[in-house]
Amino acid sequence: MKFFIDTADVKEIEKYASWGVVDGVTTNPSLMSKQSLSFLDAVKKICEIVDGPISVEVTATNSEEMIKQAEEYSAMHKNIVIKVPCDAEGLKVISALKKKGIKTNATLVFSANQGLLCAKAGASYISPFVGRLDDIGQDGMELISELADIIDNYEFDTEIIVASIRHPRHVTDAALLGAHVATIPPEILEKLIKHPKTDEGIEKFLKDWEKVSK
Ligand code: G3P
Repeated sequence: MKFFIDTADVKEIEKYASWGVVDGVTTNPSLMSKQSLSFLDAVKKICEIVDGPISVEVTATNSEEMIKQAEEYSAMHKNIVIKVPCDAEGLKVISALKKKGIKTNATLVFSANQGLLCAKAGASYISPFVGRLDDIGQDGMELISELADIIDNYEFDTEIIVASIRHPRHVTDAALLGAHVATIPPEILEKLIKHPKTDEGIEKFLKDWEKVSK
């Protein structure tokens, strides 16, 4: 299973990359707005830190402009993956970029049919947003299960990125369902390694170690 980090914050990316578990990075316009560098500087810096797929989202609303943006961004670094919204214009962009050899990440996927269409159009990745589905009383993980079956049934060359992760259980469930990737916000990555019994155990071992004659 691959772990991507879901942030555009260079300091956070540096911190968690040092754990040796970050295979890639996903950004979006909201995440970009929360960090202090210019968009282009942030993308350049992120590409220097992590040698893996770096998703950068287009913001134009028609396919021609989206393709122009995609070409501009993908020329910046070999690892750039173009994040494209999962709508009718987005489908045109995904299939056009596939022909040009540019990798795409279909984002804002909320149904199995949306994911199926994006896979069929040639998306390298699809990003179902589990947390936002849970927020409206639907079961985000059920969507992951359906998409995993669909990708398997037809051997699509598309990887599922479980996105909009809100708590550690989302990561466990994604792994149990065999999702290819989980994109994890820094605060959730931090929680994944934490356990009060581990902290308690370390403290006890260190105290007892003091009693050992050296
Ligand atoms: O990768 C997409 C993700 O950032 C969306 O997360 O928490 O805004 O629903 P959230």
